[in-house]
Amino acid sequence: MTDTTAGGDVRLAGISKTYGSFTAVHPLDLTVPQGSFFALLGASGCGKTTTLRMIAGLEDPTTGTVSLGERDVTALPPHKRPVNTVFQSYALFPHLNIHENIAFGLRRRGVTSVKKQVAEMLDLVQLGDFAHRKPHQLSGGQQQRVAVARALINHPQVLLLDEPLGALDLKLRRQMQLELKRIQTEVGITFVHVTHDQEEAMTMADTVAVMNGGRVEQLGAPAELYEHPRTTFVANFLGTSNLIEAEVVDAGSGEVVVTAGGGKLRLPGERCPEGVRTGSRLLVGVRPEKIALTPAAEADSVAPGRNTVTGRIAASSFIGVSTQYVVESPAGKALEVYVQNVEQRAGLVPGAEVVLHWSPEHTFGLDAAQDIAAGVESVEETP
Ligand SMILES: Nc1ncnc2c1ncn2[C@@H]1O[C@H](COP(=O)(O)OP(=O)(O)O)[C@@H](O)[C@H]1O
Ligand SMILES: [Mg+2]
Repeated sequence: MTDTTAGGDVRLAGISKTYGSFTAVHPLDLTVPQGSFFALLGASGCGKTTTLRMIAGLEDPTTGTVSLGERDVTALPPHKRPVNTVFQSYALFPHLNIHENIAFGLRRRGVTSVKKQVAEMLDLVQLGDFAHRKPHQLSGGQQQRVAVARALINHPQVLLLDEPLGALDLKLRRQMQLELKRIQTEVGITFVHVTHDQEEAMTMADTVAVMNGGRVEQLGAPAELYEHPRTTFVANFLGTSNLIEAEVVDAGSGEVVVTAGGGKLRLPGERCPEGVRTGSRLLVGVRPEKIALTPAAEADSVAPGRNTVTGRIAASSFIGVSTQYVVESPAGKALEVYVQNVEQRAGLVPGAEVVLHWSPEHTFGLDAAQDIAAGVESVEETP
């Protein structure tokens, strides 16, 4: 339905924004491939909205250019760009019914026969039965779908979404995430979605750019970012990571061996930063769900070749699908372990001595010069 052939990628080249002496967005090069669902993810204040507003033309970049395909649109005002934005506060016209809200963009351009296109849009967002209602007669999620339809009827090449689901409660937000994903797949136009919610970004986007302090720290597919974080911020902000301070004792052939808390751990050399050598320090990371727990008395049953750390369970919380443990150990004060709720394990209670073990392949190494807790607080701040 939408003509996307004329579109092309969104290309940001050296784009930056400073307010006085404060740099909100550092020079940024970024290409959003045509037709992709792209998420800008980061804590409040990291420059997401500013970046989006520069794409929309609502903010002049201090340096750099914005292009759509081959076309440099940096000098174009917002209404001349083939771009529409959906905000958190969707601001539908309260006195107009849903049909007229969606038709608004067409009417403004002087299109008189809007019926067919509006009906298509109502179908797309599955609100066909609501055409004659007023906005206040719809739920928050339905209103947000009207806002999406109202933007898409203009056939933008790019739809920008700035925390569009932020005002919705958790359950509705989950529904709308899937709904927006379906709509994007159906219309095939480029979506650039801004959110501070890492789960939302990972659920919806093909590619996620993790922003921190006005910079993109890492960009990739959700699974790639999750499994191969390259910075402590990404490791901590996207899910939970156990980061262990370690010293390299052998950086030899393909495998790196470190000591941490008196024990040895192994990890693949290709999962370590460049320039790792014997004697250098390293932050060794492993995700909580990759770790298994065995009572210390059964330590002999742990398969050889696994990374092992001994510790004591400090806390456990049963959350249905899994039990989350916090384990104190010489390698880390509060290691987190998520054990899937498949079988009850007697003996895994607070105070118990345990062995934590995981595959060396699930271990990653990060540059030890970074703040080990970067990105941890940012998660707690989010509502
Ligand atoms: N008009 C402005 N004047 C001064 N500072 C601004 C202005 N707009 C945004 N900022 C600052 O730029 C930073 C990035 O803001 P923003 O892009 O809105 O972040 P995000 O959307 O990631 O929460 C923030 O520190 C914010 O206070
Ligand atoms: Mg914002």
